[in-house]
This record gives sequence, C-alpha cells and structure tokens, in this order.
Amino acid sequence: MDRMLTFSVLVAVMLLSACQDKTPEATRQLQAVSQQLVPMNAELAARYQRSCRSCHTIAATGAPLTGDVVAWTPRMERGMPAMIDSVINGAGGMPPLGMCMDCSEEQFEALIRFMAGGQ
Ligand code: HEC
Repeated sequence: MDRMLTFSVLVAVMLLSACQDKTPEATRQLQAVSQQLVPMNAELAARYQRSCRSCHTIAATGAPLTGDVVAWTPRMERGMPAMIDSVINGAGGMPPLGMCMDCSEEQFEALIRFMAGGQ
C-alpha cells in the first residue's frame, strides 16, 4: 500500500470513528477499512495476518477493530501493561496469547500500537 493510500485510509478511519453511535453501515465500513490495514514491518505483518487479524477485523467477534480509534482509546487509557496482560492471559472472547504462541512482549506491544491506530 503506498503512503498516500495509507494516509487516506487512516483519515477515513478517523472520520468513521468519530461517529460514537455506530450504525450498521458505519460498522461495516470500519470493518472494511480494518481489513486493508497491515503493519509496515514485514515480520510483524506476518504475525498479525496469522493471529490478531482473524478477530480484530471482524466486528461480530466483539474485538475492537484495527484502526478503530474510538474503540481503542478507552482501552489504551488503562495503559500498555494492562493491554499486554490482557493478550497474554486472554480477555473475553480472546484466547490467551491472542493465538500468537511465539510472540514476544515487544511484538505484542507493537501489534497493539498498530491496531490502536499507530504504526
Ligand atoms: C480469537 C479472536 C481474537 C484473536 C485471535 C485476538 N484477539 Fe484481541 N480481542 C478479541 C476480543 C473478542 C477482544 C475484546 C475482549 C473484551 O474486552 O471482551 C479483544 C481485545 C483485545 C485487546 C484489549 C483488551 C482489553 O483488556 O481491553 C487487546 C490489547 C488485544 N485484543 C490484542 C490482541 C493482539 C495483539 C492479538 C494478536 C497477537 C489479538 N488480540 C488476537 C479477540 C481476539
């Protein structure tokens, strides 16, 4: 994905995320956008594609969608250590280790930052 497209996608995500009260259409669009986003780092991208992505791009799983800043902000406000603990121990519908058995804590952190809207 080129930089301009990445930028446009991020702007679209922010605009869509701005609607607090999500209509089914907004959810569908957020989900479509989340499916376009991939970490820039190739190693991280490979891990993301075979683990986190399978839930964090499907709204019906109940997972906060990749790039959905509104969904991620209140979670991120609990702090990165709490986020990493949730992945390692599992949370709600998320199994322990988020299906990435060989991810390091640093990789979990990078994956979380990416999904929460950064790179
Ligand atoms: C099998 C589905 C599934 C997979 C795979 C998955 N998640 Fe999740 N994740 C969820 C669901 C569902 C939630 C919402 C849990 C809740 O708050 O009820 C969630 C929530 C989270 C949260 C927020 C937890 C909190 O305490 O608010 C983080 C961080 C997270 N996932 C990171 C990851 C990372 C990183 C990966 C990949 C290594 C991953 N997830 C893979 C389903 C999944």
